[in-house]
Amino acid sequence: MKKENSMYICKECGYKSVKWLGKCPNCGEWGSLEIEEEKDINVGNKKITKQIFSEEEINKKIISFNEIEMEDNFRYKTRVKEFDRILGGGLVQGEVILLTGNPGIGKSTLLLQMANEYTRYGEVFYISGEESLAQIKNRGERLGIKNNKLFLISETNIDKIYEYVAIKKPKVVIVDSIQTLFSENSESTAGAPTQIREATLKIVDVAKKNNICFFIVGHITKDGKVAGPKMLEHMVDAVFNFEGEEGLFYRILRSEKNRFGSTNEIAIFSMEEDGLKEIQNSSEYFISERNEKNIGSIIVPVLEGTKVFLLEIQTLITEGNPIGIPKRVVQGFDRNRIQILMAIGEKRMGINLGNKDVFVNIPGGLSIKDPSADLGVLISLLSVYKNVEISQKIAAIGELGLRGEIRKVFFIDKRLRELEKLGFKGVYVPESNRKEIEKKQYNLKLIYLKNLDEFLERI
Ligand code: TYD
Ligand code: MG
Repeated sequence: MKKENSMYICKECGYKSVKWLGKCPNCGEWGSLEIEEEKDINVGNKKITKQIFSEEEINKKIISFNEIEMEDNFRYKTRVKEFDRILGGGLVQGEVILLTGNPGIGKSTLLLQMANEYTRYGEVFYISGEESLAQIKNRGERLGIKNNKLFLISETNIDKIYEYVAIKKPKVVIVDSIQTLFSENSESTAGAPTQIREATLKIVDVAKKNNICFFIVGHITKDGKVAGPKMLEHMVDAVFNFEGEEGLFYRILRSEKNRFGSTNEIAIFSMEEDGLKEIQNSSEYFISERNEKNIGSIIVPVLEGTKVFLLEIQTLITEGNPIGIPKRVVQGFDRNRIQILMAIGEKRMGINLGNKDVFVNIPGGLSIKDPSADLGVLISLLSVYKNVEISQKIAAIGELGLRGEIRKVFFIDKRLRELEKLGFKGVYVPESNRKEIEKKQYNLKLIYLKNLDEFLERI
C-alpha cells in the first residue's frame, strides 16, 4: 500500500515519480517503477529540536586537510602493462570493476588470463554461472594456465558467494556474469534489474569490508546498454568496455569510468589461438599496410585518454547521381564535423563537391574525436579532389576554425614524439604551437601553418 511519503522509483535508471507509471519517462523501460519508501522526505521542513550527536563526535568527523592520512596506495600489477595502465597503474585493493561487452568478444578469456596473473598476490576466485568448471578449465589450458592458487567455483547464489568470499578472503574475485546471479531475498528471476541491483550491492559490500577486488562481467544488450539497471554503473568504482569489430582479431579495452585512474584510455589487444595479447606499439599496428605514396590518405596523431595513436584518414570522392541526394558516408569520424570541414574546404580551398559522393573512413575500427585531426581530413580530401599524391612520411596536426584558421592543439610534444619514433619525416603543425615546439628538438621537418591559405601556397 502506498503511504503518504512514498515515491515510485525506476529500478532501471533511478528515476523518481510521485505516481505509478507503466513506462519510465526517463529510460523508456516498461513496468520498471516500484514503490520506494522515502522516510525522511520532510526533513527540510521539520524543526530539529534535539542535538543528535555530541560535540566530540562532530569534531571527530571534521578533519583538517593536513591531518588526513593517506591510504596505502599499493596496487596489484600484472605482466600485461597495457591492462595495468588502463586501470590507472594497477588494481586498487577493494576496487570493484564492471567489464562490459558483447557476447563472444573475449571478456571471460581476458579475465581468466588476469585471474592467473593476480595469483602472485594470493588466492584468486573465478566464479562462473555461465560455463561449467570443465569448460573453464579447458579454456585455461588453451591459455597455458597451470595454477594452484586459482580456484574455480560454479555458483549463482549471491548469498552463498558472499559467504565464500567473506570467509576465505581471496585477493581477487571474478564474477562471470552479473546477469546469472540471484538472491533468495528477491522473488524476480536472475538477470532482472532488482536481482542485479541486489547482487551488486552485496558484492560492493563484501569487497569494501574485506578489501577484496572484484571484476564483474556484464553483458550488453543489442542497443548497447548493460543489461540491467543503469545504476549498476554508479555502484562500481570503474567501468571498462571491451569492444571490437566482427571478423577482426583485435580488441579495444576502454575505460568509461575510473575512480582510480583516467577515463577514455584505450588499450589494444589481439585475440590469438592462445588468448589475448597486448599490443604495446599500437601506432605501428594501425598504420602498417601502406604504400610510399598515396592519394587521399594521411596520418594524424590523435589523443585517446592520455595516449597518442597514429591513425590513418582515408577519403574518396566519386561521381554521384546528378539528380539524387549526394552521399556522405562516414566511418570512425563525427558526421557533422565532416559536413563542417567540407564547407570550410569548399570556401577556403575551392573543393567543390556539389553532387559528388564523399566517403571518409578511419581503418582499424577506432573513432576519431580529437579535433586536431581536422587538418588531416582536409588535406586528404584535397588530395583526392586534385588527384595529387601525399608522401606517407608526412603527417598533419591542426584544428580548423570556420575562417580557415588553424588552431593550437594540446599535447603537441607527445604527438611529435610518436611521429618521430615511427620514422616520419615531416609534419604540418599550427603556427600558434611554435613557441612550445621550438623549446625542444625534434628529428622532424616542421611546417608551421597559420591558415589554409598558407597551406595552399606551399603545395
Ligand atoms: P569469450 O572469452 O568466451 O567471450 P565472452 O566471455 O565475452 O562471451 O571469447 C570467445 C571467443 O574468443 C570465441 O569465439 C573463441 C575466441 N578465443 C580465441 O580466439 N582464442 C582463445 O585463446 C580463446 C580462449 C578464445
Ligand atoms: Mg563469457
